[in-house]
Amino acid sequence: MSRKMKNKVLENLTIERIASEGKSIAHYEGKVVFVQQVAPGDVVDVRITKGKSSFMEGEAIKIHKYSNDRVEPFCSHFGVCGGCKWQHINYDLQLTYKRQQVLDQFQRIAKVPIPEVKPIIGSAKTQYYRNKLDFTFSNNRWLTREEINSGKEFERNALGFHIPKRFDKIVDIEHCYLQGDISNDVRNELRDFALKNNISFFDMIKQEGVLRNLIIRTTSTGETMVIVQFGEDASEEIQKVMEFLADRFPNITSLLYIINLKKNETFHDQEIHIFRGRDYIIEQMEGLEFRIGPKSFYQTNSEQAYELYKVTREFAGLQGNEVVYDLYTGTGTIANFVAKKAKQVIGIEYVEAAIEDAKLNAKVNGLENTLFYAGDMKDMLTDEFISEHAAPDVIITDPPRAGMHEDVVKMLLKLEAPKIVYVSCNPATQARDVALLGEKYQVDIVQPVDMFPQTYHVENVVLLTLKK
Ligand SMILES: C[S@@+](CC[C@H](N)C(=O)[O-])C[C@H]1O[C@@H](n2cnc3c(N)ncnc32)[C@H](O)[C@@H]1O
Repeated sequence: MSRKMKNKVLENLTIERIASEGKSIAHYEGKVVFVQQVAPGDVVDVRITKGKSSFMEGEAIKIHKYSNDRVEPFCSHFGVCGGCKWQHINYDLQLTYKRQQVLDQFQRIAKVPIPEVKPIIGSAKTQYYRNKLDFTFSNNRWLTREEINSGKEFERNALGFHIPKRFDKIVDIEHCYLQGDISNDVRNELRDFALKNNISFFDMIKQEGVLRNLIIRTTSTGETMVIVQFGEDASEEIQKVMEFLADRFPNITSLLYIINLKKNETFHDQEIHIFRGRDYIIEQMEGLEFRIGPKSFYQTNSEQAYELYKVTREFAGLQGNEVVYDLYTGTGTIANFVAKKAKQVIGIEYVEAAIEDAKLNAKVNGLENTLFYAGDMKDMLTDEFISEHAAPDVIITDPPRAGMHEDVVKMLLKLEAPKIVYVSCNPATQARDVALLGEKYQVDIVQPVDMFPQTYHVENVVLLTLKK
């Protein structure tokens, strides 16, 4: 019966709530229907795109009644661009749903007793909060239905973001509300310059074209890093583009480029060329300085990162005599942030360049009680490693979205540190790991933090203590 539902239109469904990953839920004849880009309280007609035995997925094709919680999206790219998908929902409600998402995942997956989930810490900035954006050049600009129907010719070169689930289509961005002015200026002026000078935009199918990717990183101290990735080793054009940026934007503190001839835009294995300035920018937090290199991870909402780290430090409850392990330390930001309150902090992370930054950051800040090691967590956190270092009193862990490898969780259970502070950008995998840790640990505090307004993403910090 379900497959037959495909393309069927279900009329007048009321959107009830938002479930995980930002999908809204309605019901049809007792079955769950997931709908994108709507708001709870909307009454909509839904065309079914996927019919399974236990649920259906669909798109809203007509809205009969708009939810009272809707607000006017502020961005002209809303609905096409993959970012900021929750602009149509007021911020207070976004926060309510994010907190609910944490609760749902813990009830559904962790299935361990938890205290009441604390009120979520909202972000003071709900626009222009990111310190890093990544734009793609393409000769295959996404055209809207109206543009196609108009029969007119349009410029097909674009510089912007990928259309969700379409690797080869790019929406040309005029203004992005995620990063400050310099970001919009650099992107738009570079695109205009390239168009005027006939410098080719990348063709993702043919894998050719000079301009490939643009990354802009900013700091609260006013520093800017711009990285241009070129898809061809075209020295004359590269020089032209980089000179343009250097002349037009004297405030760029770190102007870099990469010649990337690989099939994808990742550049962790590519050589970085410095065109002007230094190959890092400096962020500051509580009087500490953090150097951020082109390949280093740094939390993308700097101001909320400070809130997140304060929660983490508070949960760690350091008195000054503890050995702290900071797992998945990135550039050692949390490790260095808590170091003054601990006897020793050991940070582990697999990106070697990030570990070099972490060491440098400790040095720059005069912190002498930190040690950093590069390697895959499951291979690093071994009996030998523990016997060579002091056993941890507190473990801070902040893994990527996939959560911790099972071997790492097993090691944490073996280590029996009195406290684990688990920071996560994915409450589903966090809940999975907490379920395993539940063998020896209890959940004392659950604190969601919003790092990404206008999206369904939520960060969550959990304090686990060893059961007595
Ligand atoms: C969410 S970030 C945390 C960064 C850091 N705690 C911070 O706040 O800046 C996760 C980090 O885990 C690292 N990572 C991912 N998988 C890893 C693995 N298997 N072993 C070690 N580190 C890993 C990533 O490179 C990334 O720096």
